[in-house]
Amino acid sequence: MPLENMKAMLSKAASEDYAVGAFNILDYNSTRAVVLAAEQVKAPVIIQTSAKTVIFWGTSVIISWIRQLTYPSSVPIALHLDHCKDLNLIKECIKSGWTSVMIDASSKPFEENLSLSREVVEIARPKDVTVEAELGAIVGVEDDIHVKEQDAHLADSEQAIKFCAEVKPDCFAPAIGTAHGVYKGEPKIAYDLLKEIAAKTAVPIALHGGTGLADEVFKKCISLGCTKVNISTQLKYAFIDGFVAYHNANNTEYNPLKVIDAQLHQLQAGIVEKIKLFGSAGKAR
Ligand code: 13P
Repeated sequence: MPLENMKAMLSKAASEDYAVGAFNILDYNSTRAVVLAAEQVKAPVIIQTSAKTVIFWGTSVIISWIRQLTYPSSVPIALHLDHCKDLNLIKECIKSGWTSVMIDASSKPFEENLSLSREVVEIARPKDVTVEAELGAIVGVEDDIHVKEQDAHLADSEQAIKFCAEVKPDCFAPAIGTAHGVYKGEPKIAYDLLKEIAAKTAVPIALHGGTGLADEVFKKCISLGCTKVNISTQLKYAFIDGFVAYHNANNTEYNPLKVIDAQLHQLQAGIVEKIKLFGSAGKAR
């Protein structure tokens, strides 16, 4: 199937109370793992690329492997640019075939975030590309964006309502207490804030910082309005651990294709588990 944007998949998720997994890929093998996992359990899925990954490989290389892997696939797949502060990179991804982009202007003052996010919507919407925008500051490291604990702050609900009314994003990422990377302690999720923002904005909510959250936390956030769940760090670990574990167990073999295959299976198994947990297995149209 051709790639699609996030609109239909997130609105179906919202009406049927599940979430679509958004998995950050690193290369061809990890992209293959996401596609195979989605097909295995017949789920819609979002393939995410960080801005760093896009810069590392280049848009034309990524789009060629994405098309090769997704065209024969029978499940709905969106290609989304994760946290991007650079308007030029957003435009390049849109031109190259990404079907969805995230503008992350959350470190800017509110009015500036609002106007930059609105500008991206104005560029993307006529091209049928969906837009995610962020408000508040999500703690941790994602790509080149580092938010220290003392600088992290939750989204303000009044600002969130104004932001969504004026920007009209297709997906909204308010900071609600989750963190990018590995959790050091138990995260304090602002469930009431999430509930209020989801209800008052009626925009599909993205849950960032998915790696390391307990199953009940995912379920509760999904029940309160999160229809997109981001997983990145888990894939980074599986990518390296899958490779290393195979080599350690077979350290005289030096057969790269077997190592790549072991990595693929470790990635795919973790993705399938998350898709099932988010409730999107069997939801491919
Ligand atoms: P994790 O790295 O914690 O899984 O977060 C992913 C994310 O939110 C990407 O935007």
